[in-house]
Amino acid sequence: MKGRGALLAVAALALACSSDGPAAPSAPWDAEVRLSEARDLSPDPAVVEVSLEAKVTLHEVVAGTKTPLWTYDGGLPGPLIRARVGDRVIVHFRNSLPAATTVHWHGVRVPAAMDGAPGHSQPPVEPGGEFTYDFVARDAGLFWYHPHVDSAAQVGFGLYGPLLVEARDEPPGLGDELVLVLSDLSVRDDGSIVPPQAGGNLGTIFGREGDTLLVNGRRAPTVRARAGQRLRLRLVNAAKARYFQLALAGHAFTRIGGDGGLLAAPVESDTLVLAPGERADALLVPRGAPGETLIVRWTPYDRGYGTTFNRPDEPLFRVALDDAPAIATPALPALGRAIEPLEPSGATPRAMTLTQTEVDGVVQMGIDGVPSWLAPPLSAHVGDTELVTVTNSTDFAHPFHLHGFFFQVLDETGAPRAPLEWKDTVSVPVRGSTRLVVRYDDRPGDWMFHCHILDHADAGMMGVLSLSSR
Ligand code: C2O
Ligand code: CU
Ligand code: CU
Repeated sequence: MKGRGALLAVAALALACSSDGPAAPSAPWDAEVRLSEARDLSPDPAVVEVSLEAKVTLHEVVAGTKTPLWTYDGGLPGPLIRARVGDRVIVHFRNSLPAATTVHWHGVRVPAAMDGAPGHSQPPVEPGGEFTYDFVARDAGLFWYHPHVDSAAQVGFGLYGPLLVEARDEPPGLGDELVLVLSDLSVRDDGSIVPPQAGGNLGTIFGREGDTLLVNGRRAPTVRARAGQRLRLRLVNAAKARYFQLALAGHAFTRIGGDGGLLAAPVESDTLVLAPGERADALLVPRGAPGETLIVRWTPYDRGYGTTFNRPDEPLFRVALDDAPAIATPALPALGRAIEPLEPSGATPRAMTLTQTEVDGVVQMGIDGVPSWLAPPLSAHVGDTELVTVTNSTDFAHPFHLHGFFFQVLDETGAPRAPLEWKDTVSVPVRGSTRLVVRYDDRPGDWMFHCHILDHADAGMMGVLSLSSR
C-alpha cells in the first residue's frame, strides 16, 4: 500500500525534521499534535460561545491526491472546545454538508433537547441549516462531539472533535498536558474514502476499522519530552469500531481519570484500553537515554473472534527525549475524589441482551432481538435508580453507551468496580454480561443508548429510554 506511507504529508514533513535530533528551538514540544481551538466569541468569562461548521474539506491524506473528508471547521479532528465547570457553552452550528446531521455531546449531562439525537431531541439539521446548542458544562472531564445521523458513515468520514471541561480546582502539577483524539481512517491509493458499507455483512459484524491509525489527525506523530518529566495524556477513542490498547515498553501508565472525570484513586497499569467512545486521563513518566525515541504502540485487544489474529502492534505516537539528562520526577500531588457509590440493593432491576440475527440475508443487530427501528422506547422516571444488566449473546464485545447519564459499573461480586469512577461507555465482553447502576437526575426526555461500534448501532443495536417527570 504505497499510499499509507505517504499519509498526511504535513505530518510526514514534520517527522522528517524532528528525526534529525532536537528540533529547532522555535518548534513547540507538542507542535505535531497541537489541536486548533475553537475561538470563544463571548466576552463573558462564564460563557463559552463558539461557531462550528460541518463541511466537506479536501485533505491530502495520500500524497498527490485529495480526500474529501467531512470535518468540523475544516480540521481533522474538529477544534478543541475548552470550558470550565459551570460555564455555559453555546455552539452555533451550521451544516454545510451534503447530508442532514446533528451534533451529539458524548458524555455531557446536557438537557435532552440539546443531545443531538435526531427524531428525539431535535429534527436532523438539513444541509444549509443551523442549530444552536446551549448547555451548562456541569462536570469536569474530556468529552467529545460527533454526529448522530448515519453515525458510522459520518464519523468515519472525519466528524469528531474534543470538548475539554476543566475543574475550577484542577489538581496542579500533573505534568505537561496533551489532548489526544485517537481515530482511524481507510483511504484508497486514489485518495477516495473506503465506502461505509465495505465488506457487507462481515464488515458490519466485525465493525469497520480504518487501516490507518491517527492521533489528532496525524499518523504516528512525535512529541518531545524530557526524561523524567511527567506527561498527562487526555485520550478519547473517536474511532467508529476500533479498540485502542496502548502500551509503551518498560513503562506503566497511571490512570487517574476516565469518562466522567477523576477516579476515586489513581491506578497503575501496563496498558490503557479504550473502547470506542471511552476516554482516559493517564500520567506517563517517559524514561530513557538522552535523545532516545520511545514509541507508544497500538496493540491488538481481544474483543472477539478474529480481532487479534495476525495483527501486529503499530506505532501510535512517539515521544522523543531531549538530549538533556533526565530530571527528577516531581512528586505526584495527592489525587483522589470522593465518589459516592450508588446503592444497587434498592435499585430497580432492568435487563437487556445484545443480539445479532440475520433477516433476508442482511445482518441485523438489536437489543433483545429487536432492531432500534422496531423497538418501543423503554421508560423510567426522574429520580429512579436502576441496576441494569447488559448481556452479550454475540461473539464480539460491544461498548455499551448511555446518553446523558453517568453510571457505575459493578464487579462480579456486585460491588462497584474499584477504583470507583463515573462512566458513560463500558465494554460488555463476549458472551458475558456487565452490571451497572445509574440514577436518573432531573432531565426528562428521550435518551438513546447503543453500542458505540457505530456499524452495530446503525445495524440496530440501539434503543431509547424515555424518562418522564414524576
Ligand atoms: Cu458517542 Cu450516541 O454517542
Ligand atoms: Cu453519547
Ligand atoms: Cu457492538
